Amino acid sequence: MTRTAKDFFAPLAVGAPAPLREIPARPSRAIHFFDPGNEKMAAKVPDMVGTVDVLLGNLEDAVKAENKEKSRQGLVDIGRATDFGPTQFWTRINSLDSPWVLDDLTTLVPEIGDKLDVIMVPKVQGAEDIHYVDRLLAQLEAKAGLTRPILVHAILETARGVANIEEICAASPRMQGLSLGPADLAADRRMKTTRVGGGHPGYLVRQDAPKVGGETQYDAERTSYQQDLWHYTIARMVDACAMHGIYPYYGPFGDILDTVACEDQFRNAFLLGCVGAWSLHPVQITIANKVFSPSVEDVTHARRVITAMGDGTGAVMIDGKMEDDASVKQCQVMVALAEELAA
Ligand code: GLV
Ligand code: MG
Repeated sequence: MTRTAKDFFAPLAVGAPAPLREIPARPSRAIHFFDPGNEKMAAKVPDMVGTVDVLLGNLEDAVKAENKEKSRQGLVDIGRATDFGPTQFWTRINSLDSPWVLDDLTTLVPEIGDKLDVIMVPKVQGAEDIHYVDRLLAQLEAKAGLTRPILVHAILETARGVANIEEICAASPRMQGLSLGPADLAADRRMKTTRVGGGHPGYLVRQDAPKVGGETQYDAERTSYQQDLWHYTIARMVDACAMHGIYPYYGPFGDILDTVACEDQFRNAFLLGCVGAWSLHPVQITIANKVFSPSVEDVTHARRVITAMGDGTGAVMIDGKMEDDASVKQCQVMVALAEELAA
């Protein structure tokens, strides 16, 4: 779907029509979170430009209430001082039921609206939340004379938000994507976990008990397999996002030291259709960049299938496997992503 500036601006934006503009399809494999009020973290931002697809100044959870203004001002300072080059500049504003969000939007749009690519909105419950942000942004953008619409990304982190996923995706042409918010979602669903993303050693399916001489041996050693707590929600997100032409993301993985499990979670999300994940530590940027880029082997194979399939119809056998119109489409997805990342 091609979206133009007139889709974004309220009639308030009087004067010459804004130039046509498409949604930027720049890669966003890692959305790296930093606290703009933390001097040590903020000082590293200029050096991270170009090393990560998205730098996100976080104003919401993980920023203490007493530091909200400092973080907001820190974001303004960073936004003004930094040339982000190929890196996208995002923020996560405070939730719509908080006392800080109005000041977040009315400060950030006039001050650094020309630099901000995407505003991440937490705890989105339904289309009404996106409509509110959309209208407010349109007013603030028009007042500030901005010609480039700021896009909106919703975090899916309430049961109601998950139930309303379709209308959230469709709520505005500003919608850029959705992220899973596993920590808040777990709390809202009354899940009995205390983690930020990832699996759980108790969420298992056990192999059937063996039978010996017709007797079932319930006490026998049996393998159990850990299941993915987030499969259902990610699968729903992927379908809703694909239907509405926006991007799905795995959210945060809180166990920074467990890079192996982090990579597994990110890879599951990639295989299911997600385009990226959050990074809470630079080590997770490396993981996300690797996982959310198709492998050389996959791209080589995909190109081979596309070539062998000619006009894309019919069927061919490659290495003993049947490839047809549908598999060529999968291969085209893989190659298109590789080309987008290489561009
Ligand atoms: C992220 O915001 C989460 O709640 O997991
Ligand atoms: Mg959250």
